[in-house]
Amino acid sequence: MTTSQKTALITGANKGIGKETARRLAALGITVLIGARDAERGEAAAEELRADGADVRFVPLDVTDETSVQAAAQHIDATFGRLDILVNNAAIAAGPQKPSETPAATVRQVYETNVFGVIAVTHAMLPLLRRSAAARIVNMSSELGSLTHQADPDSPWAAYTSILLPYCTSKSALNAVTVLYANELRAEGILVNAVSPGYCATDLNRHSGIRTAEEGATVAVDLATAGEDGPTGALLAEEGPIPW
Ligand SMILES: NC(=O)c1ccc[n+]([C@@H]2O[C@H](COP(=O)([O-])OP(=O)(O)OC[C@H]3O[C@@H](n4cnc5c(N)ncnc54)[C@H](OP(=O)(O)O)[C@@H]3O)[C@@H](O)[C@H]2O)c1
Repeated sequence: MTTSQKTALITGANKGIGKETARRLAALGITVLIGARDAERGEAAAEELRADGADVRFVPLDVTDETSVQAAAQHIDATFGRLDILVNNAAIAAGPQKPSETPAATVRQVYETNVFGVIAVTHAMLPLLRRSAAARIVNMSSELGSLTHQADPDSPWAAYTSILLPYCTSKSALNAVTVLYANELRAEGILVNAVSPGYCATDLNRHSGIRTAEEGATVAVDLATAGEDGPTGALLAEEGPIPW
C-alpha cells in the first residue's frame, strides 16, 4: 500500500446506505473497510463490492461492544497504520410508540448504537485519524433529529417524530456530538459533519423510503472526500443545510 492510498471505515456497511457509501468510496479508489457485526453478512458485502475490482475488506465491528471496537482499531493500526475516513453509519430504530409510552430501556438500547456507539468508535479511531493528512468524519444523521422540525407540529416529519422518540432524539444527540467534535478537531484539519441521506428505502423503514440507498449515499461520499476548504460542524442534506 502506498502512503497516498486512502482507507475508509464505514460502520454498519453490510447493507443499506452504508453498503452503497462503501461502493461509491471504493469506486474512487479508496480502500474500504466494511464494519459489520455479523461476519457472514460483512464478508458477503465485501465480496459483492470486490467484484468490481475494488479493494473492499470486512472488519468485524459491533459498535456497542467496546472489545470489538478496540479490536477493529488495533486491526486497522496493524494493517494500515492510519485511517483517513470514518463514516459512522450504523444505527437502529425502535417503535412506533408514543413518547409517553416509551420506556427508558428502549431509549437506552437505541442510544447504545446511535450515540454511544458513534462516540466509542470515534474515540477509538481518532489516534488513527490523526495520522491522516486530511481526515474526515461523517456521522449519518437524519432530518428527524432536527429540533426545528421536532418543535413544529405542522412539519412534514411530525408523523414520525411523534412516534419515534428513541430514534429522533438519538439523532439530535448525534448532531450535538458532531458539532462538539468538529469544534475541537477543526484546528487539526479534521472535518466532522452530520448528514441526512433523505428518506431511503432500506430495512430500517421496511423499504418505505422514496429514495434509493445509492442516492442516500451521495452526501456522505461528498463530505467523506471534501477538500480542506470543506465544511465542518454542519448538518447537510443533498439540497443543503438542515436547520438544527
Ligand atoms: N433509510 C433512511 O431513510 C434513513 C433516513 C435518515 C437517516 N438514515 C440513517 O442512515 C444510516 C443507515 O441506515 P439504513 O437506512 O441503511 O439502515 P439499515 O439498512 O437498517 O442498515 C443499518 C446498518 O447498521 C448496522 N448495525 C446496527 N447495529 C449495529 C451494531 N451494533 N454494530 C454494527 N453495525 C450495526 C446493521 O447491521 P445488521 O445487518 O447486522 O443489522 C446495518 O448494516 C443510519 O444511521 C440511519 O439512521 C436512514
